[in-house]
Amino acid sequence: MIAQLPGFQVGYDDQGDGLPVVFLHGFPHDRTLWAAQRASLAPHARCIVPDLRGFGQSSTHGPFSMDQYADDVVGLLDWLAIESAVVCGLSMGGYVAMALWRRHPDRARAFVFCDTRLGADSEEGQRRRDELAALVKRDGARAIADAQITGMVGPTTRERRPEVMATLRAMMGRQSVAGIVGALQAMRDRPDSRDTLRTISVPSLVIVGEDDVLTPIKEARAIAEALPSVARVRLEIIAGAGHVPCLERPAATTHALSDFLSTLS
Ligand code: MLT
Repeated sequence: MIAQLPGFQVGYDDQGDGLPVVFLHGFPHDRTLWAAQRASLAPHARCIVPDLRGFGQSSTHGPFSMDQYADDVVGLLDWLAIESAVVCGLSMGGYVAMALWRRHPDRARAFVFCDTRLGADSEEGQRRRDELAALVKRDGARAIADAQITGMVGPTTRERRPEVMATLRAMMGRQSVAGIVGALQAMRDRPDSRDTLRTISVPSLVIVGEDDVLTPIKEARAIAEALPSVARVRLEIIAGAGHVPCLERPAATTHALSDFLSTLS
């Protein structure tokens, strides 16, 4: 589906009834990342799955920042007349979820932070963003798919699930250069979110793939430890998955989400 917001088009899926849950994809993904969870959870929840600005069917123009992505998500919630939702973000989607709490805390009913981190980029990390942006401008989106695919999944997926690798590679390779470069800038310039997490007062689930090397388990623990106890934090480690458990171990990820959602209604 397409929402025509003022000056900006959002591609999104809206399936199911009940508690609204917004799923935010990572980098450089699109909303199909969450296809399995949308299909499985739709009988119990209203699954809203947007393409972030620059990805999938959403407009490819800027401005690009975590704040802007968060405002775009809230723009979609307004358009759908949804007051508040559970916000579930993977990696870059998690950074957007943190920005959403900073800017629109009344719109978050609960959070799921998947394979993400609370810290800002180091100087070396920022340099790497600029190098990747130059690579994509020169060689296109496929170049970033080639550069990132191996680190994005765990060894179980690499060795036993070539179809998941192929799905992910195709997803990364079809994104727009403008969207990828914009997201790299937005991630490079994002703030540290430790203080933001400390103020979260809604229930929060932290999920991480056991073999995630991009945002390893220690990052998930740091998030869980920064969240106050009032957020009733849970940490779920998904065995046999790397950075994208929703794609690598869809049933286990859906199960963790479903358990958490059942505590909210
Ligand atoms: C993602 O999956 O969104 C990225 O790994 C996030 C990042 O590069 O910081």
